Amino acid sequence: MTRIFSGVKPTGHLTLGNYLGAMRRWAETDQHRADALFCVVDLHALTVDRDPARVRRLSRQAATLLLAVGLDPERCTLFAQSHVDEHTRLAYLMECTASDGEMRRMIQYKEKAAREQARGGSVRLSLLTYPALMAADVLAYGTDEVPVGEDQAQHMELARDLAVRFNQRYGMTFVVPRATLPAVAARVMDLQEPTSKMGKSHVRTAGIVYLLDEPEAVRKKVSRAVTDAGRDVVYDRAERPGVANLLDVLAACTGGDPEALAGDYASYGALKKDTAEAVVELLRPVRERHAELAADPGYVDAVLRSGAERARGMARPRVDAAYQAVGLMPAG
Ligand code: AMP
Ligand code: TRP
Repeated sequence: MTRIFSGVKPTGHLTLGNYLGAMRRWAETDQHRADALFCVVDLHALTVDRDPARVRRLSRQAATLLLAVGLDPERCTLFAQSHVDEHTRLAYLMECTASDGEMRRMIQYKEKAAREQARGGSVRLSLLTYPALMAADVLAYGTDEVPVGEDQAQHMELARDLAVRFNQRYGMTFVVPRATLPAVAARVMDLQEPTSKMGKSHVRTAGIVYLLDEPEAVRKKVSRAVTDAGRDVVYDRAERPGVANLLDVLAACTGGDPEALAGDYASYGALKKDTAEAVVELLRPVRERHAELAADPGYVDAVLRSGAERARGMARPRVDAAYQAVGLMPAG
């Protein structure tokens, strides 16, 4: 059976980008067609300075939202990365497989490190080594497919390279995984800045739709979305990024095709109105289910506890095998 693994970092409130790019597929198809694991990758939230209480709160909220979007603990394994030691055990071997140069070439590292330095802050070493931990997350489970948004494509290429290199050096140990991207909305853009990704840790929030936004907030953000010069509605990602983004979002919500949808609209106003309503309706059940689940934190804890136990059992043999393959002595 196909093995699927994916994760979300608790670095901010989850967004419409997270949902359309990744989480919706996890719930609607992935958990039904494969042996799937979904993880709150909390260790990845520590690559920049964060208040511990906030890390804790956002981790719990992310886990609750994974259940709220429809992940069913009877069908998939849902857990927190920090509860399964195999991830960091294997990350070390991945650091021994990767080179300094290939880590420094990662776009996300370059961008985030530059931002951190511009603020006068220091860059944590873990920001550089992050893709080794991400590769470990995926490889520990013999993962075939990793459903992610487009921003993760480069990290996934690296994970594949590391798997192939390790297998060549030490013998067949890891499955070489592949990223799967959604057909539409693989990269949802910021509504205020349609040439940048809608990212949950951005400081300016007016262009970000959060999964838990009230309907009125969603309507306001979409109605104020930056559109492009011109008046006619055409789908052109390069020349009309603002309008193309709205069409992508509308298409992803309604199941249509962004280019075909463009023909249905004579004005930006009408497009914004329909997009806002489509997003409101898409998020309504998620918000309602989140409210129910948040009232029962004991349930979420129990799901994560049994998920971690199951995940540990799945990862342990492969990580042990990797330790022995590189020449380390068996512990038992
Ligand atoms: P992150 O928020 O970086 O932990 O991302 C969790 C998942 O959501 C990953 O698969 C990302 O690729 C995806 N994702 C995050 N932001 C977006 C976005 N703006 N558009 C599409 N997918 C996204
Ligand atoms: N790096 C991913 C992101 O920023 C999160 C992540 C960590 C992940 N480990 C993973 C995604 C393993 C898929 C598989 O979105």
